[in-house]
Amino acid sequence: MATTIGAREFDRIREFLERETSISLGDDKAYLVETRLSEIMSAHGIGDYGALLMALQGDRPRGVRDLVIDAMTTNETLWFRDGAPFELFRDQFLPAWAGEIAAGKRRKIRIWSAACSTGQEPYSLSMVYNDAARRFPALRPECLEIVATDLSDTALATARAGTYGGLALQRGLPEGSLDRHFSAGADGRFEVRREVRDRVTFRKFNLKDSFITLGSFDMVLARYVLIYFQDEFKREVLRKAHGALEKGGALFLGSSESLPAGVPGYAMVRRGRVTWYQKAEAVARRPGTETGTVGTVGDPKATPASADGDLASLLKRLQDMNAQHDK
Ligand SMILES: C[S@@+](CC[C@H](N)C(=O)[O-])C[C@H]1O[C@@H](n2cnc3c(N)ncnc32)[C@H](O)[C@@H]1O
Repeated sequence: MATTIGAREFDRIREFLERETSISLGDDKAYLVETRLSEIMSAHGIGDYGALLMALQGDRPRGVRDLVIDAMTTNETLWFRDGAPFELFRDQFLPAWAGEIAAGKRRKIRIWSAACSTGQEPYSLSMVYNDAARRFPALRPECLEIVATDLSDTALATARAGTYGGLALQRGLPEGSLDRHFSAGADGRFEVRREVRDRVTFRKFNLKDSFITLGSFDMVLARYVLIYFQDEFKREVLRKAHGALEKGGALFLGSSESLPAGVPGYAMVRRGRVTWYQKAEAVARRPGTETGTVGTVGDPKATPASADGDLASLLKRLQDMNAQHDK
């Protein structure tokens, strides 16, 4: 029923989307608006894009704004996406944190999955934790809290239900995980086990909002979401994430993403195939850059990533690099 969108209407719809969510649609994305909004328009008897714009202005019918925003999000995700960050979590971060818990230096681990989509990312972390807890008894069930947020109501509904069918299960789930972490439900679907789900709290949250209400985290994952934003908003999100990280905390982006210039206070760490960013409060500025970066940390068995000792050695290397640079 919906007609082809005109250039002016497309501009106004993308202005609406950018204002509400910071999602930025390229000039060539008119087809995306047409395909994603046609169902909503038919369901609500909205015959053309002029009428849709009126509907968005007054949110009449009530809730149409959220429906349009939801439809325009891209919720592509999979289990253990990119693999290597989850291996690093298992092999470096969790053993280090288990040691700190056992030594009485830490009580809790808090992780934020900042664009969790349908839940695969936070549940993957929770599964890794449960597996690791067999080796490290200090990792008690209550020691990990995962806050998982997204803007999309439909993605969050799937995440909260924690029940997945054939196609979703086939994407990225390692062998053995289905048996260990899911129970069989109705219609050939599988449900994430209670002990994996219980520590994950899902919440609707727009990255445009203040992060202060979320508390502070040892690890923040903002993976495959910044790609939808303009550079200035990417920087804003990463600056706010810096504020939400504990000292020495870790930021993960998608494997094809990198920290844009102009975001101070992170030290880049490379371990094997993974790059992540460590909160480094006093990162010295290299001339011409705002982001302190450190190259590959040579020894993968080096001091645990989150320990102060590691941060100190990273900062020392930074200072050495800066001194070299200044010569
Ligand atoms: C491609 S998914 C990424 C999922 C997961 N992080 C991963 O790496 O597989 C991007 C998610 O970002 C969410 N998103 C987009 N803009 C957002 C915003 N302004 N605030 C919060 N979430 C947003 C979308 O709803 C979508 O679920």
